[in-house]
Amino acid sequence: MGSTSLIFLLSLSFLHFFHQPLLLVAADADFIRKTCKKTDYYDLCVSSLKSNSTSANADTKGLAVIMVGIGMVNATATSSYLSTQLLSTTNDTLMKKVLKECSDKYSYATDALHASLQDLAMESYDYANMHIMAAADYPNACHNAFKRYSGLAYPPEIARREEGLKRICDVVLGIIDLLGW
Ligand SMILES: *[C@@H]1O[C@H](CO)[C@@H](O)[C@H](O)[C@H]1NC(C)=O
Ligand SMILES: *[C@@H]1O[C@H](CO)[C@@H](O)[C@H](O)[C@H]1NC(C)=O
Ligand SMILES: *[C@@H]1O[C@H](CO)[C@@H](O)[C@H](O)[C@H]1NC(C)=O
Repeated sequence: MGSTSLIFLLSLSFLHFFHQPLLLVAADADFIRKTCKKTDYYDLCVSSLKSNSTSANADTKGLAVIMVGIGMVNATATSSYLSTQLLSTTNDTLMKKVLKECSDKYSYATDALHASLQDLAMESYDYANMHIMAAADYPNACHNAFKRYSGLAYPPEIARREEGLKRICDVVLGIIDLLGW
């Protein structure tokens, strides 16, 4: 064995030695903070994960799963907000059509997040990433539906919810990055 490959093997065992404990250790508050520091939205990450008590005993993958669940609740809430509350504020046919379309997009985002749970369970992290990126992209499809009709203003409340869901997805991607695939 050449010394280069020996060094390579040694580095691999070194990496594994330090990587595994990170994956297996129970997620106390400190572990949650450490994990969230690696994501783009620390506060959102910590407060979301802490809102679910099972995060206290979760490993890195478990935290990703919990965050996906939070994303699903969020996207579902926005989908129903669009098809009920917001829909009831207008009689405009075009606006109704676009709101219905948007509601569908947010429910597809929920579906994509749901699909990522199976990927995570099978440790298919590349597929999990793909599904979460799709979930983060569906709000754009809603925004684009508004842009198609120049007379329709994009309601600030949808913009707020769009940003919220995208940030949740971003946090999930950050946590999945830590899984070392
Ligand atoms: C906490 O997260 C788990 C895993 O996603 C989920 O099954 C459970 O419903 C969540 N609990 C609450 C209170 O949301
Ligand atoms: C929509 O139309 C109904 C029936 O004409 C009317 O009662 C209602 O106030 C209208 N709603 C809005 C938000 O304009
Ligand atoms: C989810 O959606 C609601 C409504 O838009 C929002 O207020 C909230 O901050 C979002 N994020 C989380 C993590 O629940």
